[in-house]
Amino acid sequence: MKIVRDLPSLRAARAELGPLALVPTMGALHAGHLSLIAAARREAPRVAASIFVNPLQFGPQEDLSRYPRDEAGDLAQLEAAGCDLAWLPSVEVMYPPGRATTIEVLGPSEGWEGAARPGHFRGVATVCAKLFSQTGATVAVFGEKDWQQYQVIRRMVADLDLPVRIVGGTTVREADGLAMSSRNRFLDPAARALAPRLHRAMQAAAAAMLAGTAPATALAEARQSLTAAGFGVDYLALVEAETLRETDKAPGRLIAAAKLGTVRLLDNIAVGAG
Ligand code: PAJ
Repeated sequence: MKIVRDLPSLRAARAELGPLALVPTMGALHAGHLSLIAAARREAPRVAASIFVNPLQFGPQEDLSRYPRDEAGDLAQLEAAGCDLAWLPSVEVMYPPGRATTIEVLGPSEGWEGAARPGHFRGVATVCAKLFSQTGATVAVFGEKDWQQYQVIRRMVADLDLPVRIVGGTTVREADGLAMSSRNRFLDPAARALAPRLHRAMQAAAAAMLAGTAPATALAEARQSLTAAGFGVDYLALVEAETLRETDKAPGRLIAAAKLGTVRLLDNIAVGAG
């Protein structure tokens, strides 16, 4: 696996390797990320992963310095997963002084995570557009775990005619159903034991909707059971899969954000063909 940290080396590596599928990450890799590398290997002859903790997508209240970092461990996992190229730009390489361009995707970025984290998707879209341009990837793989992010990127690529195909990878879960996330390590044992209830409540709500219960009723019940269990539910909503607009009938995507203590958990599942 080639490891590159500056743009001239990246350009040389991509000329040598040929068509690439890219998996953008912020490191602290787990089985969810590695499943995207496996998916990328099915999409192109060569696979690149980027590791860049993007300051632009963190709000002033969010602790960028607390973001878990383990470069040596990440590189070993990427190598073992069959990654051909690791792109590790520094903040200075990604954002040289004088930077004046950001990308703002409206539509699917409005509401939900976009409302909870102002500027977050501007940072995500900007860095992903740069990563696509830097690597020249023909395919990029994003996790469905971050459903809204996945849709924001798809919208951006369509709107800007970017020459990259966006592929989604299914959410990898722990045995008890908790979606894998680099934030899970911050759950204390009691919170970790409660955490899978989020997915369970979502599955129950989805099943109820498909059995004919009105979404508003199913969602109110799920919200109530989660709140009673100790979750601070930020949102739990049925939305149109691509636009993220709230809808009152399936098919759709059931999206949720809920806090256990200080840890904010995200999850989403399809309801019907959503
Ligand atoms: P990060 O949180 O490191 O996630 C990198 C990729 O892994 C994203 O596409 C995310 O959706 C996916 N992922 C995370 N957990 C997953 C799981 N349990 N199963 C499947 N895929 C999972 O998302 C980001 O980084 C950043 O916003 C980024 C796109 C890299 C831009 O900075």
